Amino acid sequence: MEIVKAYAEDAQAIWDLRNKAILAGCKGYYDELSLARWTEGELTESFTAVVARDFYVMKDGAGVAGCIMLDVSHPALRKGEAQLEAVFVAPDMMGHGIGKRLVAFIEALALKEGINRLRLESTLNAVPFYRACGFGEEQSSLYHSPRGFSLECCRMYKNL
Ligand SMILES: CC(C)(COP(=O)(O)OP(=O)(O)OC[C@H]1O[C@@H](n2cnc3c(N)ncnc32)[C@H](O)[C@@H]1OP(=O)(O)O)[C@@H](O)C(=O)NCCC(=O)NCCS
Repeated sequence: MEIVKAYAEDAQAIWDLRNKAILAGCKGYYDELSLARWTEGELTESFTAVVARDFYVMKDGAGVAGCIMLDVSHPALRKGEAQLEAVFVAPDMMGHGIGKRLVAFIEALALKEGINRLRLESTLNAVPFYRACGFGEEQSSLYHSPRGFSLECCRMYKNL
């Protein structure tokens, strides 16, 4: 399975993967209503545009096994930083090293682009995963969704 740049045509598969990964991976860490609101609705043009600009996918034949996003224009970034976002692995493939490969891929890409520090907001379920990927400097944070709910999260950093 290889990791490649995502295109607009991948957006529906990525949207479906995102929702399945959140519902499976975040279950038990947040209330059911918040997870339902986070994953409801159809694919939008704005999500498709972000996929085409900033997403990378791990292809599994014709399907998608995982995805990841690198955001270099997030408003909270300091010089030399980029924001890691949207790390999602298909539920039936979790725990087999795909997430770690996606993060390693993005780290190599970031270094090539002159980025020396990654920042992210982790959901509580994923904190041990990011620790295993070498992230630290943990700070509690709150993710405010434009859909009108908030999720307790953990801000983490990694120097590359
Ligand atoms: C979090 C997620 C991306 C991890 O991907 P994955 O492919 O399942 O993780 P990997 O198999 O690559 O695991 C890599 C390392 O993290 C550790 N890890 C992963 N999930 C863990 C967990 N819940 N608890 C403890 N350790 C965990 C693994 O043991 C492994 O450690 P090792 O390298 O020392 O062996 C995936 O489970 C997912 O999509 N979860 C739901 C969506 C989500 O929460 N995304 C993050 C949003 S911020």
